Amino acid sequence: MSAEQTGAHPGQTGSTSQPPPGPAQVALDIAHAAIGLSDPNPRVGCVITAADPAAAWARGHTQQAGGPHAEVMALRAAREAGLNLQGATAWVTLEPCAHHGRTPPCCDALIEAGVARVVVALRDPNPLVAGQGVARMRAAGLEVQVAGAFTPAFAQEFQALHAQSLTTSNDAQGQAWARGALELNIGFFSRMVRQRPWVRLKIAASLDGQTALANGASQWITAEPARTDGHAWRRRAGAVLTGMGTVRDDDPRLDVRLVPTAHQPLRVVVDSRLEISAQARILQPPGPVLVYTGTGRAAEASLLRERCPNLQVVEVLADERGKTDLATVLADLATRGVNELHVEAGHQLNGSLLKAGLVDELLVYLAPRMLGPGRGMAAFSPLERLADGLSLEFIECTPVGPDLRIRARLLGRAHLLEERLGHVLAPPPPTMA
Ligand SMILES: NC(=O)c1ccc[n+]([C@@H]2O[C@H](COP(=O)([O-])OP(=O)(O)OC[C@H]3O[C@@H](n4cnc5c(N)ncnc54)[C@H](OP(=O)(O)O)[C@@H]3O)[C@@H](O)[C@H]2O)c1
Repeated sequence: MSAEQTGAHPGQTGSTSQPPPGPAQVALDIAHAAIGLSDPNPRVGCVITAADPAAAWARGHTQQAGGPHAEVMALRAAREAGLNLQGATAWVTLEPCAHHGRTPPCCDALIEAGVARVVVALRDPNPLVAGQGVARMRAAGLEVQVAGAFTPAFAQEFQALHAQSLTTSNDAQGQAWARGALELNIGFFSRMVRQRPWVRLKIAASLDGQTALANGASQWITAEPARTDGHAWRRRAGAVLTGMGTVRDDDPRLDVRLVPTAHQPLRVVVDSRLEISAQARILQPPGPVLVYTGTGRAAEASLLRERCPNLQVVEVLADERGKTDLATVLADLATRGVNELHVEAGHQLNGSLLKAGLVDELLVYLAPRMLGPGRGMAAFSPLERLADGLSLEFIECTPVGPDLRIRARLLGRAHLLEERLGHVLAPPPPTMA
């Protein structure tokens, strides 16, 4: 059963809901409904509670880009339900926006509606917002509470409301809420703070670490539940990246088929010599495809584009080995609004990304079988010292059908994001089923 089917949203790292969930937890839960919908905008949830504690709660989450944000959806729901907004509290998982993008500023909508208090999980790292939403609401006389800096009186109120639903071993509830909001939007934060996507490397491997036989056969190492779960992770990404070796050997489609989705992620191939065939399945609809190749291939690119109208070829400079420069690829994907990049590639591209320090997280499905000598997870030159290995930390280990889903992060990677944001959040405990 996939993460979606079990109700555990991809990206959630801690155990959460023991009833009754408080409004902050509900806002975070409904924010997950924006996965596969709101990109490149962040996934945000909003709950509005009236001054009358007996009144029903209104809720909303971010819609597709260009559509209403979570606060506007919740305000609409409140008005439709006849909720008295005077003196109400809005619980929002990200700071309300303060700028005119494709929609008007959400902080103004809350102010005009008569909301008295706004509780925010995280400040928005978008330089167009970056504290201005909080400042404008405070200037208008609203009480604004931001997780990590709650006033003592409000911290007590928050704790009483969320003691059962946001418990962690040694973490304050507000911080647990903020961490959940950060996890859900880790790609958006990465793009805003580092100008590159959050890179998640998905690998299906045998227990002895093989991702393919020596002859290239790799379908299928894991069972169907793991493959379905993998599609749920593809779905939350803005783009899925692979290498020309995998296109040649497997001819994959790399679209989202096994879970429902409102959009298809951009599909991306690195192909230094533009050798991809116009018949390759990845070039077929649905959805757009990008191929990054070396410079000087304009003639081949235009021939290919004639046969594949959904294809865009981007020429980038080669690295010192004559391969597509991967840092340039990531920077370019960020300018195209890709928040999370899901990589499903062979050991060569995996190795290049890891060696270049461009991977943030590994998503490994480990099958209970041994395959003997074949192709490993990532091509590295032999190391001389154990200390030269890449250090990671496990953040999750969950059975998925007969296989295991293991998530690990490059050491310190998520903390780097948090430090840059000025949030001091305790690391979450790993979840081991
Ligand atoms: N089990 C799994 O999770 C899994 C997932 C995917 C694939 N696979 C298996 O992996 C095997 C293919 O492995 P592979 O290593 O040949 O394929 P790959 O890593 O997907 O692609 C490697 C190719 O990508 C191109 N490339 C462009 N820029 C690169 C860069 N900076 N660094 C590295 N490569 C770059 C290179 O071709 P050019 O020089 O021509 O550009 C290179 O030969 C197949 O057997 C497939 O079944 C397994």
